[in-house]
Amino acid sequence: MDGYLWYIAQVDRLNPDNQVSPAEAELMVRAGKIAKKVGGSILDLGSGSGNDFPTIQAAEVILPVLAVEPNRFTWAKAEAQAQELKLSVSFAANLEEVPNESCGLLLTRRVLCSVDDQQEALQEIFRVLKPGGVFVFIEHVAAEEGSPLRVTQEVFRPVQQAMANNCDMARLLDAKCGQDGLEMQGETEKAIRDMPWSNVEVVNYEEAFNGPLSPHIRGLAVKAR
Ligand SMILES: C[S@@+](CC[C@H](N)C(=O)[O-])C[C@H]1O[C@@H](n2cnc3c(N)ncnc32)[C@H](O)[C@@H]1O
Repeated sequence: MDGYLWYIAQVDRLNPDNQVSPAEAELMVRAGKIAKKVGGSILDLGSGSGNDFPTIQAAEVILPVLAVEPNRFTWAKAEAQAQELKLSVSFAANLEEVPNESCGLLLTRRVLCSVDDQQEALQEIFRVLKPGGVFVFIEHVAAEEGSPLRVTQEVFRPVQQAMANNCDMARLLDAKCGQDGLEMQGETEKAIRDMPWSNVEVVNYEEAFNGPLSPHIRGLAVKAR
C-alpha cells in the first residue's frame, strides 16, 4: 500500500494543477468573507500535494490553515508549495483528529470523488464546521445519466479508480434508506444537498479539455448558526 501511495504522490508532483479560475476566486472571496465573521481555521480536506493552496489564498482571509491529507507521501511537496506561497499550514492525516466546530471555512477540491464513504465524509465536514461556517466544494461529478459521456465514465471508471487512488468518475452514493434498508443512489450534488445546511448554492459546469472528468460542480453550503 505504501508503494501505491508513493506512486500517487509522484503522479501528483509531476502534474501540478494549482490554477485558480476567476469563478473559483470569486467563490473563495465570498466564502472568505463568511469565514472572517465566524473565525476558526481554514481546513483544506484532501490537500494532496498542496495544489489547493492558491485557492485557499484566494479567500483573502488570514486564519490558521490546516491541511488534512491521509497520503503522507504528498506532505513534503505540500509543505514546499506552502513555503513558496508564504502560507503557514499545519498538517493532519485524518479529519477525525479535528475538533468539533473548529473551522470557519472547509474546502474540498476534487476530493468527494475519492473518499471511501461520501456520506460519512460529509457528516464529518458538517461536524468540524463552526455554526455559520462555510463549506466550499469544487468537484468533478457524474455526467447526466444516459448521456454518451456517462457511458464513457462508466466504462473507464474501474481503470481510473485503480490508477488514481479510488477517484470515481461517475461517483454514486450508495445509501441504505428506510426501515427495510432499500438501496438508493444519488450523486455528489444530492449528497451535499441532503445535509441540513441553512443555504446551498451549486453551479454545474464543464471544465474544458478534461474528457470524462469535465462535468463539475462548484459552490458553497453554510451551516446554520
Ligand atoms: C484527486 S486528489 C485531489 C487533491 C487536491 N485537492 C487537488 O485538487 O489537487 C484527492 C485527494 O483526496 C484525498 N483523500 C481521499 N480520501 C480522503 C479522506 N477520507 N480524507 C481526506 N482526504 C482524502 C486523497 O488522498 C487525495 O490526495
